Amino acid sequence: MTIHIGAEKGDIAPTVLMPGDPYRAKWAAETFLKDARCINEVRGMLGFTGTWNGHPVTIQASGMGMPSLSIYANELITDYDVQTLIRIGSCGGMQKSIGIRDVILAMTASTLSTPSRGIFKELNFAPCADYGLLAAAHAAATAKGVPSHVGGIYSSDVFYDERPDLNEQMVRHGILGVEMEAAELYNLAARHGRRALAVLTVSDHLLTHEALPAEDRERSFGDMVEIALTAAFSVSD
Ligand code: HPA
Repeated sequence: MTIHIGAEKGDIAPTVLMPGDPYRAKWAAETFLKDARCINEVRGMLGFTGTWNGHPVTIQASGMGMPSLSIYANELITDYDVQTLIRIGSCGGMQKSIGIRDVILAMTASTLSTPSRGIFKELNFAPCADYGLLAAAHAAATAKGVPSHVGGIYSSDVFYDERPDLNEQMVRHGILGVEMEAAELYNLAARHGRRALAVLTVSDHLLTHEALPAEDRERSFGDMVEIALTAAFSVSD
């Protein structure tokens, strides 16, 4: 047990998928894992462990934003020795070439600040995904016929943004989408020598103002879970 995770050491698999939303963790575990059991309920931040194609997998919610994700990812890495962490979440599209429901695979994540800012200080560290996971996820998305885009994203600290000029610069510099967690996940994976990737479904679009209808969210989220699981077990240790 840790401060924020009630699971015993052996209850968490070496591979963890991390949605922001605890109810999505529950849905994904019940839909895709065999023999899924709840391993964490502390603060309602649900986690489940089961198997996928015979491989042990944990799906642990991260909450929203980098400070929340940082707590769970730190404890998963340092207390439970998790080796592979894949964020599965939604993002806002930032390029015209990107459609609602498309999947973005974040090669790198720009950010104004992260919980790691205190370590890096004046250095602009470039957090990046694990290449093996990234390539495997791209292959899995292509095989499923899900349109996917590989490139840089922006991990923001705010959902309700008061800096439209910053978004303009992100769009101008080719950033594919905005979410709120990936940069810190990549920082932590780099620090501890673990593998990380963010697989993101475009749920809304900052340029076209389209949004994914509620009834489509489940199917799109399911594609993302399958892409993440396939990628996780295509990469060998
Ligand atoms: N901004 C930040 N995070 C998000 C967004 C957004 O527009 N959409 C989904 N996650």
